[in-house]
Amino acid sequence: MASIRIRNTGERIEGEANVRAFLEEQGVLYEHWDTEKLPEKLRDKFVLTDEEKEEILRAYDEDIRSLAERNGYVKWDVVALSPETPNLDELLKKFEQVHVHTEDEVRAIAAGNGIFTIKGKEETGYFDVELSAGDVISVPVNTPHFFTLMENRRVVAIRLFIDPSGWVAHPVEDPAFQP
Ligand SMILES: [Fe+2]
Repeated sequence: MASIRIRNTGERIEGEANVRAFLEEQGVLYEHWDTEKLPEKLRDKFVLTDEEKEEILRAYDEDIRSLAERNGYVKWDVVALSPETPNLDELLKKFEQVHVHTEDEVRAIAAGNGIFTIKGKEETGYFDVELSAGDVISVPVNTPHFFTLMENRRVVAIRLFIDPSGWVAHPVEDPAFQP
């Protein structure tokens, strides 16, 4: 279940209803998928074959199609990151820069954890959303954000796209962001 940390105040928001209410107020889509749908052998596996990635997409097919239909996504895939990923540190360095996209950035966490740091409303500022298996989040178009891993440095996520070529990171120099 996702939890929130507001960076300016250190305030934490926990519990499904509170997290949902906060993210809704910030205009960030959040939902939770049933992790029981994923075969047990894939719930803790971070180096995946193409066949295993397909298996993950099949397990969540109904949820993926429902979300895609609601928001206009036409393509989806699976990405896996772990200490076994070549150049993980370099990749993370690139990820951890505030940027925007010309479409939503949608991630459904299938295994492991991740953090989206997102720029909220003026009075809220940046907040971290800590995600675990089953959490689904969509960072709205043109909203400054970045993604990083948690201490376990492991995640498997489903990505959904309106137009994969539209998912280019445009860096943002934001003085309001305090690392
Ligand atoms: Fe992004």
